[in-house]
Order: sequence, then structure tokens, then C-alpha cells
Amino acid sequence: MIFSDKHKIGIEELDREHEALFFSLKAVLLASLCRTQGSTHKNLEGQLNLLLKTVTNHFRNEEKIIEEMNLPDKEEHKKEHRRLEKEFE
Ligand SMILES: [Fe+2]
Repeated sequence: MIFSDKHKIGIEELDREHEALFFSLKAVLLASLCRTQGSTHKNLEGQLNLLLKTVTNHFRNEEKIIEEMNLPDKEEHKKEHRRLEKEFE
């Protein structure tokens, strides 16, 4: 799982955040793998909490930007964010 140009949407701020999400997700996966080799549950929990915080912050920022750009599918996009957030709960 590598963030590359094909994942970029051309909005630098959001591309940076999406890349950060990739790193955060990788950290969760790594913590999960290490857990089976004796790493602490707390490390995995910490990485998961960080990922959730990063995702939530990203959603708010992305919504602000798509609102400013007045994209035609902005309401659908927000709904999708809310749906995903409910899944995270
Ligand atoms: Fe996004």
C-alpha cells in the first residue's frame, strides 16, 4: 500500500492529508502485525485512535474545501463521510 500520483486529486492540501492517511493506516497495520509478535495492545489502540482522529480532521477540512469550491456532489460527499464515521463508532 503505497501512496502515489495516481491517488492524487490535484488539490495539494488534500493530497498531503490523503498521503498522511495512508501512513497512519500503515502504522495501524504494522502495530497489528507486531501485536501478534508481542507488541502491546496499547500501541495498536494508540495507532487506531490516531488514525480515527486523522480521518475525522481530514473529513472536516475536505468538507470545508469542497464547500468553498462549490463542487456539485458536495452534499453526497458529506453524507458519505457521515456514513463512514458511523462505521468507525
Ligand atoms: Fe478525502
